Amino acid sequence: MAAASQYVWFDGKFVPFEKANVHVLTHSLQYGSGIFEGIRAYKTAKGPAIFRLDDHVKRFFNTAKIYGMQLPMKREDLKKAIISPVEKNSLNECYIRPFGFYNDQHIGLSPLGKKVSVVVAAIAFGNYFENKDKGISCRVSSWHRINSEILPPEAKGSGNYLNSILASTEAKREGADEAIMLSVDGYVAEGPGENLFLVRNGKLVTPDESADILLGITRDSIIKIAEAKGLEVEERGVHREELYTSDEAFFAGTAAEITPITRVDSRRIGKGKIGPITKLLLDSYDEAVTGQNDDFSYWLTYV
Ligand SMILES: Cc1ncc(COP(=O)(O)O)c(C=O)c1O
Repeated sequence: MAAASQYVWFDGKFVPFEKANVHVLTHSLQYGSGIFEGIRAYKTAKGPAIFRLDDHVKRFFNTAKIYGMQLPMKREDLKKAIISPVEKNSLNECYIRPFGFYNDQHIGLSPLGKKVSVVVAAIAFGNYFENKDKGISCRVSSWHRINSEILPPEAKGSGNYLNSILASTEAKREGADEAIMLSVDGYVAEGPGENLFLVRNGKLVTPDESADILLGITRDSIIKIAEAKGLEVEERGVHREELYTSDEAFFAGTAAEITPITRVDSRRIGKGKIGPITKLLLDSYDEAVTGQNDDFSYWLTYV
């Protein structure tokens, strides 16, 4: 929970954290019709820097376009709005949550013509997974990943995440740290809020978009970092059994960052500990996000 002195950017104004509230009948609360982004800022030698801000803003606007939500602002204004609570709250390392929603209390599904509000909250945030440093365990979910005949997998719409919540809570109830979902076609897709990478015979393997994954910004960063390190990257269909026989596996996502996976369905992955390629990418990712690699400094927006 954020400190009481913090502020949330709410439709162009700073509102104290505990006063950034809406009515219980708000459309997006009732029907999951909100849209959001998840962004991190990191401490660097030149002050806090937001990682891949332009890409997150682009995806937020794409999500709005997919769901037909008319955002009441331009991209440049949203960028400023995202930077402002980091500055105002004097945060260094934080998670930033822009959220667009129908701020209207009517009963009925159609949000057409209803008021859209945008809020941006920034809160101090550490590891998403408690066991990140020693590696986590996963279960292949009985819930399959949504596909675009049902809900748009490339959109970060709140309602999409009920699918993720089902998978994640099932995994946790069964004693694992996180779920891995298959596509409706039975290929390995991703975690509930993370993309997945495997290491097989020295190559990096990751599901491609035909598995209905969200093409994550961290995933893209890892691919670019890996290629710069001379690693071969295969984006392709991945069979479930390849999970079990991989040398290494890890999740990649803004919240999860790079989280090593050491067990899947009670089977040990590789040596059951963080593997050398995962470690190399984890360290290189940390360098990139904290401004220690000039090749990737174009990903940073200093606050
Ligand atoms: C379903 C899903 N997959 C993957 C990711 C990772 O995406 P990113 O690296 O852009 O945070 C996320 C998080 O946004 C997600 O919600």
